[in-house]
Parts: sequence; structure tokens; C-alpha cells
Amino acid sequence: MSDGLDAIYNELRRLQKEGVAYVYVDGATKDLLKPAPQPTTVRERGKPVEHANLAELVKKTAATETIKPEPVAEKSVKRLPTPPQIELPEGDATSQIQWLNERILNCTTCIEQKGTEGKIVLGNGRIDADIIFCGEAPGTDDAIEGTPFNGGAGRLLDKIIKAMGLNREDVYCTNILKWRPENDKPYGNRPPTQDEMHFCLPYFRAEVDIIQPKVIVALGNATANGLLGPDPKRRMASIRGTWHAFQDIPLIVTFHPSYLLRNDTLKTKRMVWEDLLSVMEKVELPISQKQQGFFLPK
Ligand code: URA
Repeated sequence: MSDGLDAIYNELRRLQKEGVAYVYVDGATKDLLKPAPQPTTVRERGKPVEHANLAELVKKTAATETIKPEPVAEKSVKRLPTPPQIELPEGDATSQIQWLNERILNCTTCIEQKGTEGKIVLGNGRIDADIIFCGEAPGTDDAIEGTPFNGGAGRLLDKIIKAMGLNREDVYCTNILKWRPENDKPYGNRPPTQDEMHFCLPYFRAEVDIIQPKVIVALGNATANGLLGPDPKRRMASIRGTWHAFQDIPLIVTFHPSYLLRNDTLKTKRMVWEDLLSVMEKVELPISQKQQGFFLPK
């Protein structure tokens, strides 16, 4: 959530706690709230006034959220136990992934962390895929479905995969974290902490061992920190577009689709697309002239 919107939300909650039921809303505030449908009772200061229902407004403010809140301080999150040790049983990829998924579904920490409403979110797609797309953690829609990338970011990821000439079923999609991180705000998704990702990393390592992809695409900065190790100085601009390795498998970092949703400039789209052209080259997918030119300035 933007600082402005965050401040409005906090102020509205404060007023609500003080028992205020209706508030005036000025033009600048109304603009900030624009993405959400405006309550019909909201009027600008100085105009013929009807008051906005505060409870409604608090809800609408929360619904306006499109940007992830800042990560919560690690100290406010309970420390997790030692990460699980995974020793895959002998067998083919199908039986191994079934075994792993059972193990994750029965993981007491995952069950405790996911809360009472959400589901544990397992990876899905081809178990012999050449490409693994890895996100940081499930969002609200994913925790409802129990599968990764269902919301807006997921729909954009589908489009990206389509642009590569593939379908979701041709790749494997997963997250480092297997549950949606609990968020103390009633809107948006919280990025996972390093501790949370550290706990779940053995599950992702096992997925990689089973699938043996040719390439891993790490989506976003948090995922990069989870897979490559934390580095507060790491910036997307300096790590995207070059090859890294995870368990000796080539790994590329690119912008998270949810970042693209908020920054949908031609330049950012082209940067992501160039990363994916590199992926297509690496896995020897055909690349047409048309694909080469996607998101270039006209
Ligand atoms: N949904 C996911 O499954 N992963 C992300 O990183 C974001 C949304």
C-alpha cells in the first residue's frame, strides 16, 4: 500500500476506534481511493456535504490495496523450528512428488503457519518440465485454491508463459513458501521473511531434485534472496538478466509479475521479456522474429 493510502487507512481506523461514524473526504484523499469503487455518500470538502460512512470507507481503503506492504520486522514473527530434512525415497518422479506433497501437507509447521482458513499451497505443473517458475509465497487466492499463481499476478504469468509459446501445463510453478504468510493488515500480502523461506527451502530443493529442470526462473527480489541467500544490497537491476545457479541448475531472476502489474511500462515489460528470451534460448525453444520484437518501442 502506498504511504498515503496507508496513512489514510490508519487514520480511519483510529477514528473508528474513537467511535466516529462519519468523516469528510477531501479531493486528494478521494483520488488516492480511486481504484476502489467510491461510496456514493462521499463528497469533497466544501461541496454540498453528505458524510461518508466510516466503516464502509475503512473497508474500501483496504480493498484499494494493490501494492505489497513493507516486510514486517522479522522479530514480530515467531521463529520457526529447524528446517525439515528431506530424503527422497527411491522411485520415479511421479511417486517422489506424491511422497513430497504428502510430506508438505503433513508438515506441522506449515499447518500451524497457514492458519485456519488458508490451504497449504503445493507446486503444480509438469513434473518433467524444463522450466520451473518460482515465486516467493502464495497470495490470498492461492491459499483458497491450494495452488500457486491464481490471482492477478498468476494471470499475468499465464500471459508471459503464453508469449513464450507454452501453456501453464508445460512448466512447473511453485513458491519457496508453502503457506500464505500471515499478515497483520487486513489487505494485501506480506512478503515472506528470510526465516520463513529458510524453513521451506528444503521442500523447494526437493522439487528441483525431482523435476531436474533445465532452468529456474526466480520471480522477484524476495525469491532471489530466498534462493540465492539474503543480501540487503542486492538490487533487481544488478541481478536480473544474468545467469546464476541453484543446485547447479541455471537460475535467472526477473521482476515478479505483481511488480509488473504496478509498473507496466514498456521498458519494464521489455526487461522481463529479455530475461525470458534468455530462458527460451537456454531450453532451446524456437524464437520467432515476432517474439524477438515483443515490447520494443515502436
Ligand atoms: N502467488 C504465488 O503463488 N506466488 C507469488 O509469489 C505471488 C502470488
